[in-house]
Amino acid sequence: MPSLRDVLDEIVAEMAGYSDRGAVASYIPQLGKIDPNKFGIAVTLTNGEVLVAGDADEPFSIQSISKVFTLALALGRVGDTLWKRVGREPSGTPFNSIVQLEREEGIPRNPFINAGAIVVSDVLLAGHQPREAIGEIVSFVRSLADDDTIVVDGDVAGSERVTGYRNFALANYLKGFGNLNHAPELTLGVYFHHCAIAMNCQQLANAGRFLANAGRVPSSGHTVISSERAKRINALMLTCGHYDGSGEFAFRVGIPGKSGVGGGILAIVPGVASIAVWSPGLNARGNSMLGSIALEQLTKRMNWSIF
Ligand code: DON
Repeated sequence: MPSLRDVLDEIVAEMAGYSDRGAVASYIPQLGKIDPNKFGIAVTLTNGEVLVAGDADEPFSIQSISKVFTLALALGRVGDTLWKRVGREPSGTPFNSIVQLEREEGIPRNPFINAGAIVVSDVLLAGHQPREAIGEIVSFVRSLADDDTIVVDGDVAGSERVTGYRNFALANYLKGFGNLNHAPELTLGVYFHHCAIAMNCQQLANAGRFLANAGRVPSSGHTVISSERAKRINALMLTCGHYDGSGEFAFRVGIPGKSGVGGGILAIVPGVASIAVWSPGLNARGNSMLGSIALEQLTKRMNWSIF
């Protein structure tokens, strides 16, 4: 088995040689300003070791990766009743698609497409002001990463709000079907802010540790969620974490992963490691182009797979 240190250094060097790096998301204007040449990777092993390479200490917008954390929090809040409002099937459609919502009467296919994540935000808003719900999400992420410096990037949240016509359409449509308990602008306030959490690869890999360790943070032994729930979240990441690119990601990488349009991917090797990779340019499905390639190489060279 090659050394993980060497493999990470090789991958960083190889990624620097790519000229086609995909396109940085521009529909959120603030994200369009990010340098596409950035590349970072961090691996937190369940034995507590952390290895980083490239721009692993530079914060980026985690975007849809935050949906993993809001899902864990919402399941803790309402348990399996969540599944009355959100499905668990891959959508086969882009992350911001509306087509299935009418046919399926306002029940989003899964908690990772935008419509599903907006319902999850609505669950977390119950009994709170939006700023309290956002505060709770940020505290949860900070505790998972064991890092109190993690914050929401207000400029990204604001940038998304002023251009978020599709998300407003989805939220209004959900509301029309009775699957939103709050005013769309309040629920979206929570949603836009958790998507705008900024983290670096090292923080993100640490935040994912509990999913690699059957629901427990390895360093403290603290139980975040049950092992059964960790299994289920990993299963959803594998089947739905890359939207209409989920099959391709599973085929090439072979482990659960969740992408964000900021160019990050959180990937989990159960029992072994939590991996965060960041390269801002996206492929045609809105998932990090080099991030996916880097994970494919890493899992191949380390012989990491759930299959
Ligand atoms: O709602 C949006 O469009 C973004 N805040 C999140 C989308 C996203 O990250 C999709 N991931 N690849």
